[in-house]
Amino acid sequence: MHILVAGGAGYIGSCCSEYLLDRGHQVTVFDALLNGHREAVDPRANFIEGNLADLEIIHQAIRDSRPDGIIHFAAFIEVGESMQDPLKYFRNNVSNALNLCQAACDNQVRKIVFSSTAAVYGMPEHIPISESEPTFPINPYGEAKLMFEKILRWQHDLRGLQYTALRYFNAAGASQKYGEDHHPETHLIPLIMQAAEGKREQISIFGDDYDTPDGTCIRDYIHVLDLAQAHLLALENEFCGSLNLGSGQGHSVNAVIDMVKKVTEKDFRVEVKARRPGDPARLIADSSAARDILGWKPQFDNLESIVRSAWAWRQRHPDGYIS
Ligand code: UFG
Repeated sequence: MHILVAGGAGYIGSCCSEYLLDRGHQVTVFDALLNGHREAVDPRANFIEGNLADLEIIHQAIRDSRPDGIIHFAAFIEVGESMQDPLKYFRNNVSNALNLCQAACDNQVRKIVFSSTAAVYGMPEHIPISESEPTFPINPYGEAKLMFEKILRWQHDLRGLQYTALRYFNAAGASQKYGEDHHPETHLIPLIMQAAEGKREQISIFGDDYDTPDGTCIRDYIHVLDLAQAHLLALENEFCGSLNLGSGQGHSVNAVIDMVKKVTEKDFRVEVKARRPGDPARLIADSSAARDILGWKPQFDNLESIVRSAWAWRQRHPDGYIS
């Protein structure tokens, strides 16, 4: 297949592009390089620098490259920032994404696979979380992702566009070539690694008084290459709708810190701080639908292998990407 990857210079988009190329597919990366990195674009891919805000550019990119499918990763990702500047999130993650959707439909692209999030569930009542859990986002980031899922569903119902929305839990880990390099970094595993590298004085635990066995929040960490596998399967599959992607295993913040200490063989200061507003105590996926429908088989089945891959990438890229 020829696949257009919007946001292919970002963390998950770069790993996914590499995964597709390794399997013989042709890839066109479309990225504005606002948060993505030119170095994270696989040299085997065609690269178009462009912003989804510009309908003509994405229209032309799709007209020229004639992709069989599109994977849409291009979005702002910071939950906290979305609370400070909601319109920034609705403008980019909904309004600009509409241009991609329109260009795809106008050019008869068969399918869009959309990068969605567990944040659509907000504070879920049932753990593990299945797709039948009600969606009540508690921040503009999650709301914008849910809005675009609904837009895709209407385009499916009314215009015949095929789509799969993949709701990731906590993406983590790295491939041999590509990894996580956000500015600013807000995610737990890279922040702990910065502490292990001596680049930050300490790691803060945001609350140790949750209703969990050790009092710290529990999350479901899923390897970025397992996410990549699911995107390819979703492109190949006729299923239209939303699917959760997680490992089904929960790890507390304390357990993740201990794992990073074990893998890196480094010690560092850990400090307990106040809760971060909007953090649910537990988020664990029920991904049985993705396994059953797509035949998805995650390869990284434990936290240690995820953390090891992230650490190996950081050791090869001690300063992240340069560009
Ligand atoms: N945490 C700390 N200290 C830190 C950073 C994080 O204790 O310095 C804690 C958080 O409070 C949370 C856990 O570590 O309990 C994981 O936090 P992350 O910020 O790494 O990830 P989140 O679970 O908040 O968010 C992730 C994605 C979002 C997505 C969300 C919904 O980053 O994009 O999952 O599933 F919306």
